[in-house]
Amino acid sequence: MIHPDRAWLTLLRPAAEQDGVAMLFDATSQTDINVRQKAFYEGMRRDDGAAEAAAATQPVAQESWLNRLWRRVRSLKAEDRRQADYFARHLETVLAEAPAGASGRARVRIIEVGCGAGTVLTEAALANRDRVDYVGIDLALGPLLSLRKRFDAAGAGHFALVCDDFLAENFEPGSFDALYALACVHHFDRAGKRRFADKTRALLKPGGRGAFVEALNINPLLAAARAATRPGRPNLAWEHPFSMTEIEEFLGAFPESEARYFEGLRNFALFAAFHPGLLRATARALQAIDERLARHRLFRRLFTAAFFAVRTAPASPGASTAPTAAPASGAAAAPG
Ligand SMILES: C[S@@+](CC[C@H](N)C(=O)[O-])C[C@H]1O[C@@H](n2cnc3c(N)ncnc32)[C@H](O)[C@@H]1O
Repeated sequence: MIHPDRAWLTLLRPAAEQDGVAMLFDATSQTDINVRQKAFYEGMRRDDGAAEAAAATQPVAQESWLNRLWRRVRSLKAEDRRQADYFARHLETVLAEAPAGASGRARVRIIEVGCGAGTVLTEAALANRDRVDYVGIDLALGPLLSLRKRFDAAGAGHFALVCDDFLAENFEPGSFDALYALACVHHFDRAGKRRFADKTRALLKPGGRGAFVEALNINPLLAAARAATRPGRPNLAWEHPFSMTEIEEFLGAFPESEARYFEGLRNFALFAAFHPGLLRATARALQAIDERLARHRLFRRLFTAAFFAVRTAPASPGASTAPTAAPASGAAAAPG
């Protein structure tokens, strides 16, 4: 039985709730890859900082130099607010465009595909919980169960979570103002990416927006490294970082679209990880160079990740023609 707070969401198939998560996943009609992928992510839960807290109590001397380097790199990545800002601003645009409801304030319905245990977009949705109806969908139940706890603790009982394959029959067409996916679309092969784009178009309202952050396979060095390490990686079957053709196909499925490239030369800052200050300074300098390079098509092959923003056609020719939501300048420049 679905909790009354989440009755705003109509599902196309009957679902029972398990600990607050609507269960739709049907293994009998699923591909082997999805069943394996579900099992792979099933055990992953956000541990509410328990692991970090335990690590902090360990004397630093016990840490190997490799651990220390890795912690520096991770903390540098955590300091990088570009993804969080991009999605927060995108959601602000979606909220600003929505017509005001009876209360005088706009309310929007958004869906996050492959939400896992939560992302920077989930946090932006939580920050606007009084104006957002959120549904997160993922193959794996474990991460959804921890996200359910987070929502309930944060006063977002009306946020819904669904355990299912995004491409299965689950939501009414035209029911969302925005669709988000972070590090999820590259889990679909080329045909799957086409179906992902088609379903995104179908689920969005006219003029609805989508935003994505995805891994790219357009850097020849990285593509070679990936190919070389393929045999040792368990999750290969569902890792399909975007090729140039796939980027063009995906964006071309929408009348409005934009791509911003990031993580290019900046990745080489890792070589300065032996010194925290040097790591930061190198990363800043390389990022500034990235920002310039990303403006030129020729140099885009340096980049390893991208933000995509798309928009469906407005309802009528006279409807809004505002450009696709962009975090900063709104031009096709990359954040670097
Ligand atoms: C790399 S993880 C990213 C998780 C989260 N978005 C993040 O950024 O931390 C990819 C997620 O996509 C989910 N996923 C992959 N294919 C899916 C599908 N067909 N339907 C729903 N979720 C899917 C996986 O279960 C996994 O949780």
